[in-house]
Amino acid sequence: MSIYETQASTDADHAASAEPSTTVQSLSTSTRERFARAGIVGELQALEDLLLARTASHSAYIAAAGAHTVQAGGKRLRAALALLASRLRGTSHTEQALHTAASVELIHAASLVHDDLVDHTRRRRGRVTVHALWDNDVALMVGDYFFALAAAEMALCRDPRIITYYAQAVQTIVEGELNPVTTVEPLDSALQQYLYKTGAKTATLFAAGCKAGMATGGGSEDDIAALGHYGYDLGVAFQIVDDVLDFIGDEKTLGKPAGNDLREGTITLPLMYAVEQSRSDFLRDIAGVSGLSDEQVAQAIAEVKQAGAIERTQQEARAYVERAVAHLNHFAESPARQTMIELAWFVIQRQT
Ligand code: FPP
Ligand code: MG
Repeated sequence: MSIYETQASTDADHAASAEPSTTVQSLSTSTRERFARAGIVGELQALEDLLLARTASHSAYIAAAGAHTVQAGGKRLRAALALLASRLRGTSHTEQALHTAASVELIHAASLVHDDLVDHTRRRRGRVTVHALWDNDVALMVGDYFFALAAAEMALCRDPRIITYYAQAVQTIVEGELNPVTTVEPLDSALQQYLYKTGAKTATLFAAGCKAGMATGGGSEDDIAALGHYGYDLGVAFQIVDDVLDFIGDEKTLGKPAGNDLREGTITLPLMYAVEQSRSDFLRDIAGVSGLSDEQVAQAIAEVKQAGAIERTQQEARAYVERAVAHLNHFAESPARQTMIELAWFVIQRQT
C-alpha cells in the first residue's frame, strides 16, 4: 500500500487534510495575544518547528503521518502551560522549557492518535485521523513512535524529576482509559467513576506539564505541588467542557464529530445529570450502549438539553476552574500568572 493510499478514506478526507497549520499564527487572535503578553510566542513557534523536525523518519509512513499529526495543530494548551509554569518564578530557561513543553505535547499527540483508533473517530482538529487516512496498524505505530519521541525529548530535560512526572502521568492515563464509566446511577457512584476517569485520562497530564515547567523554572517542591493542583483542576474542567461540547458542538467548529461519546457508549457527566433530573427511561436504556443510530443520538442530545443537564455540567466545570485559579494565589503576580488565570477561564468558554 502506498503511504497516500488508504482503506476507506475519500477525496473529501484528503481535501480536509491538505491545509498545514504548524504556526503560531493559526492560534485564535485572543489566544495569541495572551501568549504574547506572557512573552511565549517565540517559544511556541520554536515548539512548532521542533515538533515538525522530530517527525523526520526513515519510514515514509511515520514521516507522512507524523507531519500530518503535527500540522493539524491544536491549542497547544499543555505546552503553553509548561512554558508559562517555567516563568512563574521569574527565571527563564528557554531551551530547557522548550524540551519540557515538547515532551507534553508529544505525549498528548501520541495519546490522541491511539484514542482516535480506540474511539473510531474519523476527524480530529479538522483533519482526517491517522487510522482513517492510513490504517489501524499505521496509527498504532505512529502513536508508539510519538511516545518514543516524547521519551527522547524528556531525556533532554536536565531535571530527572521531569521524566518521573511524565512517566507516572502516562501510566495513569492508560489505567484511566481501561476504567470505563459503567453506570449513570446512582449518581454518587457514577460521579465517582467519572471523576476518577477524567482525572486519570486528562487532568494528570495537565498537572504533569505544569509540574515539569515549574521544576524547569527552579520552583520549590511547594511551588511544584501548588502548580500541579492548578493543572489537575484545570484538566478536569477541560475534560468536562470537552464532554459538554460533544453534546452541544458541531463537527465544523469542533474539528471532530459531535455525539461521538453517545455513539460509542461512553457515559459522561451531562448524561448522568440528565438521567437524574429527567428520570428518562430512554436515556437510561441507551447509556453505555455502543452503535446507536443517528436518530437515537439526536433524541438523547435533545433530552439531555431539555433536562437542563448542560447548564449543570457547565457549572461543575466553572467550579473546577475557580479551584484551579485559587491555587495560583500561591504565586506572586506576573504576566505568566495572569495568562494562566486567563487560560483557565478560556477553557470553559472555548467552542473547540
Ligand atoms: C481524549 O479523550 C483521550 C485522552 C485524553 C487520552 C487517550 C489515551 C489513550 C488512548 C491511551 C494511550 C495513551 C497514552 C498516553 C499511553 P476523549 O476521547 O474523551 O476526547 P476526544 O473527544 O477529544 O476524543
Ligand atoms: Mg476520543
